[in-house]
Amino acid sequence: MIETKQKAADPCVMVIFGATGDLTKRKLFPALYYLAKDGFLPENFAIIGVGRQELSGASFRKQIISDLKSFIGKDVDRKLVKWFEDRTYYTGGDFDDDKALFSDIKNLLDEVTNTHEIPKNYFYYMAIPPFLFSNVANKIVKNGLGKQDEGFWRRFIFEKPFGKDLESAKKLNSELLEILEENQIYRIDHYLGKETVQNILVFRFGNSIFEPIWNRNYVDHVQITVAEDLGVGTRGGYYDKAGALRDMVPNHIFQLITLTAMEPPVSFEADAVRDEQAKILQAIQLFSPEDVLNKTVRGQYDENEINGESLKAYRDVENVPANSNTETYAALKLSIDNWRWAGVPFYVRTGKRMPKKHTTILIQFKKAPFMLFRDTEIDHLTTNRIVLHIQPDESITLHFGAKIPGPLVKMGTVDMDFDYSEHFGETVSTGYERLLYDCMVGDATLFQRADMVEASWCVVSPILDVWEALPARNFPNYKAGTWGPKEADELLESDGHKWKNNID
Ligand code: BG6
Repeated sequence: MIETKQKAADPCVMVIFGATGDLTKRKLFPALYYLAKDGFLPENFAIIGVGRQELSGASFRKQIISDLKSFIGKDVDRKLVKWFEDRTYYTGGDFDDDKALFSDIKNLLDEVTNTHEIPKNYFYYMAIPPFLFSNVANKIVKNGLGKQDEGFWRRFIFEKPFGKDLESAKKLNSELLEILEENQIYRIDHYLGKETVQNILVFRFGNSIFEPIWNRNYVDHVQITVAEDLGVGTRGGYYDKAGALRDMVPNHIFQLITLTAMEPPVSFEADAVRDEQAKILQAIQLFSPEDVLNKTVRGQYDENEINGESLKAYRDVENVPANSNTETYAALKLSIDNWRWAGVPFYVRTGKRMPKKHTTILIQFKKAPFMLFRDTEIDHLTTNRIVLHIQPDESITLHFGAKIPGPLVKMGTVDMDFDYSEHFGETVSTGYERLLYDCMVGDATLFQRADMVEASWCVVSPILDVWEALPARNFPNYKAGTWGPKEADELLESDGHKWKNNID
């Protein structure tokens, strides 16, 4: 028995396709463990792993439980681990085989629902390459395991990337919507599982002091940075086909934009929130080919040596062609064509091998209309900004001007900080807990709807088209461990702005 809370999820079976992969080991099982620890998993629960490898249930359990123990570390709750061990199953085979694998899954589902007295609520987690999504979903449905009815539900979680451009995303949506209802489809974006991302809405709509100034009358511009210090690692094969723009922008960065820019929803019901997010995506001004040349920058990292450590060039990464033209950095200047944001640029950038991991949303306010303090040097004149630090620091900072002590009235910039862990204490999470739980209770607020995915690709596809038609001639154009190509600085400088790199 585990301790459950009043709000424990519905009794159900989780079926993970791609169960021997990294995501299952690093995120899904640890997230289930933390959910169970906090009382959010039901007692009547089971997990079926499905993979290509022909493994016995016992060897899958052995591996996954040992991975779980080493992930959680010395504080692992042995009773809880045993609880998982008792309800974890596996079946393997060829995903293309219509019969064998899927009838095994069906039999296993019957067996576990009997053993653990679980109603026939199933959710399928597609931790598999996207080209298999509709094929596997189709086979689940064909084998009678996808249809929901009175008294039980069937849900499908799809990992990113959801399509590689507008056309493929539309095709995937239409294939899935032929066999499933939209309310069965959960398109996951792990950024929405982050506490600090969810807090954007609470910060904006749970307080009355920020909202009146959150618009073009007061905001000068917005900067969103998703920088990573790591390179591409072992993912060269995937990454070289994707590139920084596809990998990060239509999903993670657009989630950050919509939550920052959206209007207050009429309620926190899934569709009310997603309607407002969708309106922002539809309001992002589409780029003409000329805009792509003027308002976007791409980059690729070169080798470098930092503090005695030598960092490889992107082109030297395993499975990356030596003449690759794939970007590892992208910066865009976006405009949101609506009443609230007309004329306020949203600068966004993301890149691999930058100086540090650092995800922030910076709201830069306009200068005071008249500057009284003539003794203050020009670069000490303060402009106000609010910085939402998403990761690795989880905090909110307000920058404002204060008098520097002394006989003259001089102004300096000071910060007011709110730090999550100082205030609430450290919490451990993988970021997937909330999303798995929400799927089990049928709350799709933090998942993407078909129209949102397509609206995102509408913005990104024209950029990809131009970039593909005109391959970059100057790659590699930034050194590993630096803030990206100089053209990205020029993008802001031509508007009289600067990226804020050191805002901890
Ligand atoms: C993934 C991308 O979706 O997000 C990766 O495919 C990237 O390339 C990762 O590194 C970043 O996620 P996080 O949570 O570490 O910011």
